[in-house]
Amino acid sequence: MSGGIRFDYGLSGIDSTRLTALLPEIEKAHIQLHEGTGQGSEYTGWLDFPLHINTHEIEEINRVSQEVRENADVFILIGIGGSYLGARAAIEFLHSPFYNKMASVTKKGPEIYYLGNNVSSIYIEKILEFIKGKSIYINVISKSGTTLEPALSFRIMKKMLEETYGKEEARKRIIVTTDKEKGVLKKLSLAEGYRTFEVPGNIGGRYSVLTAVGLLPIAVSGVDIKEVIQGAVDGSQAYQRADLSLNDCYQYAAVRNLLYRDDKTIELLVNYEPSLNSFAEWWKQLFGESEGKDHKGIFPASVSFTTDLHSIGQYIQDGQRNLFTTTLWIENTGTSLQVPGVTEDMDGLGYLEGMAFEEINKRSCQGTMQAHVSGGVPNLKITIPALTPYYYGQLVYFFLKACGISGYLLGVNPFDQPGVEEYKKNMYSLLKK
Ligand code: PA5
Repeated sequence: MSGGIRFDYGLSGIDSTRLTALLPEIEKAHIQLHEGTGQGSEYTGWLDFPLHINTHEIEEINRVSQEVRENADVFILIGIGGSYLGARAAIEFLHSPFYNKMASVTKKGPEIYYLGNNVSSIYIEKILEFIKGKSIYINVISKSGTTLEPALSFRIMKKMLEETYGKEEARKRIIVTTDKEKGVLKKLSLAEGYRTFEVPGNIGGRYSVLTAVGLLPIAVSGVDIKEVIQGAVDGSQAYQRADLSLNDCYQYAAVRNLLYRDDKTIELLVNYEPSLNSFAEWWKQLFGESEGKDHKGIFPASVSFTTDLHSIGQYIQDGQRNLFTTTLWIENTGTSLQVPGVTEDMDGLGYLEGMAFEEINKRSCQGTMQAHVSGGVPNLKITIPALTPYYYGQLVYFFLKACGISGYLLGVNPFDQPGVEEYKKNMYSLLKK
């Protein structure tokens, strides 16, 4: 593996003796995951998926995404939860939060919008307003094919495309990603003759970003998905040793579990790059839906620094002592921005003249971590060499595996989400389904 992602728990207050004592539990979780003896083992297809990914499928994803890139001004990703968060995270991680602005200026690929992740009429109407008159392709993603939010948005978009382009042309512009056999969406796709990609039956939504669920939209944004997969493959090899000292991913799972035992019940994923904000949303869903059950689990939250140091930074430093931070640090941003020199030092920033912003950010991170240590906030750090497709793939795999191991350490099934059904049941009954 070239360099690779590194985990550091030096500022967590957890010493290596406690980590070593946890080894038997880690080994047990490792066996449960790898030998399929743990709860929810029917949904662990993601473990080896990148290693055995079908090359024909990759070619088909690349072919379809190329067609979309050539013909669409706008690509709408319709999906909720695990069906859209990973793709959105990748697009912002690998391009920037300004991806759409860049796309509209360079015309090298379509603008990408997200529908089906809420039922807000304001949100939906606004998107419909500004995509009017543009060449539109859509990808509706739903494993179950029955989720209300994406189904409603899909109904709107299907009607709009058929009225705009006629049924035949609309059919070419609708791409469906769903289960191989089950669900209304599958039935509808067969009846209408839509192009479909498969969500493997043994991979749950929040573990599916490295399948067609994430790969197609990521490819539409112009990213080389083979690089993403290579990063995940290398990650899967690096993180398959049960030996804690050789496995950064297991160390992360173990340290956060020990912190939880010390009543640190909130984990804040910290970034210093706004490009990682959507990645944090993906991470929160992954850990929140996987661990938060049976009245157990670490509450996953996120902050972007230095921005949030001026909002909830006060609480983190000084509020209730039940949280710890995990910083995602980008080692090389590939930028060269420096503090410019001026003739007169009227703003008092002369002492920073010529300094790279990357360096200022680094010192903010160091200073913040030191402050947190003295404030009683344990710090974990994950260093990512650069914001590349390869490291995106490796980082995703790092967290998927850490989440599976963490769930088993906690004694919950990390692959189901029974709590999500509760709101659906009430909503459907209020809607008189
Ligand atoms: O992780 C999960 O399983 C969920 O977040 C699902 O991805 C989400 O509920 C959407 O489900 P579906 O893809 O079936 O529409």
